[in-house]
Amino acid sequence: MTNECKKGRNLKNSKSDMVNLTKNVDQKDDLKYNRRSFLKTAAGASIALGLSTVPFSVRAMMGMAEEENERLEIGRLDQLGEGESMTFNYPTDNDPAILVHTVNGDLVAYNSACTHLMCPVFYKKEEDILLCPCHKGYFDVNNGQPVEGPPQRELPLIEIEVENGIVYATGRKYRHG
Ligand code: FES
Repeated sequence: MTNECKKGRNLKNSKSDMVNLTKNVDQKDDLKYNRRSFLKTAAGASIALGLSTVPFSVRAMMGMAEEENERLEIGRLDQLGEGESMTFNYPTDNDPAILVHTVNGDLVAYNSACTHLMCPVFYKKEEDILLCPCHKGYFDVNNGQPVEGPPQRELPLIEIEVENGIVYATGRKYRHG
């Protein structure tokens, strides 16, 4: 058999194979299953998109406002006197935070990006308050709530624990709507 003949024969076989392949496909079933899988995918995507856009107030009611985060060592308590503060990042390196040992002896921590336009807030010992110098925004150091200036929302709360003289961040809580 010549090469041309072989080519011709292969061409013929492949054409008939295609016919056989398409013959045993039930087009109604195919359409039905494609439609079903499309609807499943569309429903799944809608639910995922819906959950991601649920406002914090609704997620808070559903118990979703508290994040699960890793425990992170912030520093030694004996290196942070009353009236002093230290900065750290939590839960990621892109989330600046501040740990404050207040003049009253309390330990509190918040994400320190101002809720107005993200400038870092500082602890002002003399007034026992958190100050954002950009537009003179003030936050209550005891709860992170805005008390004066442009910020309308409180700072996210970093939950902390002290163990063997070490202060750890253990989670973050959003409390606003
Ligand atoms: S950025 Fe903090 S008050 Fe404007």
